[in-house]
Amino acid sequence: MPEKDKTFTPSKRRFGVLGTGRITRRLIADLQSIDEVEVTAIASREISRAKWCADQHGIPAFVQGYENLIQREDVDAIYIALPPSLHYPFAIATAENKKDLLCEKPFALNSAQMEAIDAAFQKNRWLDATGWLHHPRTQSFANWLKEGSLGKISHLSAALSFYQPFQSNDHRLQPELGGGCLLDLGWYIFGFTRFFMRQMPRSIYADAIVKEGVTQRVNAMLWFENDVTASISCGYDAATRKWFEVAGSAASLICDDFTRPWHDRPTRCWIHEASGKVQSHSFEGNQEQQMIKNFVSGEPLRHLQNQAIDTQRMIDAATLSIESGSKVDLPVMDR
Ligand SMILES: NC(=O)c1ccc[n+]([C@@H]2O[C@H](COP(=O)([O-])OP(=O)(O)OC[C@H]3O[C@@H](n4cnc5c(N)ncnc54)[C@H](OP(=O)(O)O)[C@@H]3O)[C@@H](O)[C@H]2O)c1
Repeated sequence: MPEKDKTFTPSKRRFGVLGTGRITRRLIADLQSIDEVEVTAIASREISRAKWCADQHGIPAFVQGYENLIQREDVDAIYIALPPSLHYPFAIATAENKKDLLCEKPFALNSAQMEAIDAAFQKNRWLDATGWLHHPRTQSFANWLKEGSLGKISHLSAALSFYQPFQSNDHRLQPELGGGCLLDLGWYIFGFTRFFMRQMPRSIYADAIVKEGVTQRVNAMLWFENDVTASISCGYDAATRKWFEVAGSAASLICDDFTRPWHDRPTRCWIHEASGKVQSHSFEGNQEQQMIKNFVSGEPLRHLQNQAIDTQRMIDAATLSIESGSKVDLPVMDR
């Protein structure tokens, strides 16, 4: 059994929420559904919006200004659901105020910011809100891999897209707010390769279609040890896709809802064997609720933090590759 995280203080976690946007409103319900958690305060740029959101969700305190919430004594943990460019400053403020941090993806704009945040959290815990890693199905993925159910892995592929889903003022279309599909959706597809390979690639080549300063589509090739390769794609210009395939010598694992289950269908995946036989699997569980439980439970988070840090490093390498037009080699990591 791994030891409990020594930075963990057992008690009911009182969450303060930064931002009143789409994902905030969804995650508040998940936070409030967990016995060990209460949401005590919410902050917005506008006091009227903070009050509206507090009233909607039965949150006792509402605050104007994110910094004001982070300093409150009735808050032990901060949930950041702001545009990506605001994650870093308020993550650092959270560490300085000795609170735990659950922060939306992409965790930061680049790995330098991410490592600075990691270093700032000496006494408290941080976790990126990447829900799919916490779904019970993901443990089955890991078990199948460990048991060798797919044989020797040779190639991974993934695609993630939404067709022009945003209004023109959305932060995803604003370069200065960390917009673009590379950070927004790339977080999932690069993270998918890191999860299944349990290591960083040796090289990445990425190409992008960029409009008005933000990536609209990104395609990337990745090369890992032992001739394993990956081809991944994400964009705002194709109908909703969220699938991956992990191809091995004995079978392929295929999943068409890996980032978040389709709302009206069971969480699912398939193992296609070489003979054409297909095993269908479906799963119960709410990935966001499980993520929150893992965050407040005191279980070690370092393996998830390493997964997040490596994901951000891969996105850095992809950015460099897009800018330079060349394949980028990554340093060998000793983990
Ligand atoms: N894990 C997931 O499944 C998932 C899903 C969607 C999004 N996300 C992530 O969650 C974060 C927020 O995304 P969202 O879809 O919730 O965005 P959103 O609906 O636009 O909400 C963002 C919130 O940030 C605040 N904000 C502060 N400065 C802003 C600015 N200059 N422009 C716009 N908003 C600003 C606003 O709250 P106030 O005005 O109240 O201050 C706004 O409501 C992003 O990092 C995104 O990638 C994660």
